[in-house]
Amino acid sequence: MTNQPPLAELLRAATREQHQQLDRHPLLRPLIQPGIRAEQYSAALAALHGPTAELERQVEPLFQGQSGPGYSPRIRLLAQDLARLHGQPRPYQGPLLKLHNPAQQIGGLYVLEGSRMGAFAIAQRLEQDLPDLPRDFFGNGGRRGWPDYWPPLLASLDPSQYPDAIQGAQQAFEAFIQHLSACH
Ligand code: HEM
Repeated sequence: MTNQPPLAELLRAATREQHQQLDRHPLLRPLIQPGIRAEQYSAALAALHGPTAELERQVEPLFQGQSGPGYSPRIRLLAQDLARLHGQPRPYQGPLLKLHNPAQQIGGLYVLEGSRMGAFAIAQRLEQDLPDLPRDFFGNGGRRGWPDYWPPLLASLDPSQYPDAIQGAQQAFEAFIQHLSACH
């Protein structure tokens, strides 16, 4: 009998509307539209830098003391792509992000890891329309899908912690939404 908690489903349902706000945002929308221009790509990276860096910092405690292949932050890839496009990160202008406990941090990690899914489609678009430009960030650093450490992390939570995980994910999405709105 599997005891797999339905947390993945809960997280998806609880953040669906927030995701829609993001993938329709004028700064990100061009990333999946044919004919994207270099300056639109650069503007999207510049805007994604702040909340990505904030969120990656907040989930770090989940992986402290671990060695070997595991969690791989992507902020350096983003910063390198942006620099090679001669862009500058926009300063973070979203709400204070505070993920207080492991459940909230797992919710935040859901947003970071989930964002790799859309990134795959974006990398394909960039490859077609801007083939000469770097795309290591959206190219996921070579990895696809949910990582091996994701199912055990989900399973580590007791159902009583689910509300915190959901709160963490919603807080993380809100950071992106509000920061992007401020950037636009
Ligand atoms: C133009 C921008 C974006 C597009 C087109 C996009 C598109 C997508 C798509 C197609 C999926 C589903 C992939 C699949 O099921 O195989 C997905 C999943 C996801 N995306 Fe995005 N995305 C975008 C931006 C973002 C951003 C900025 C974030 C977070 C900061 C994000 C977070 C997520 C999460 C958490 C999931 C996982 C949903 C789940 O299955 O539980 N996405 N995205």
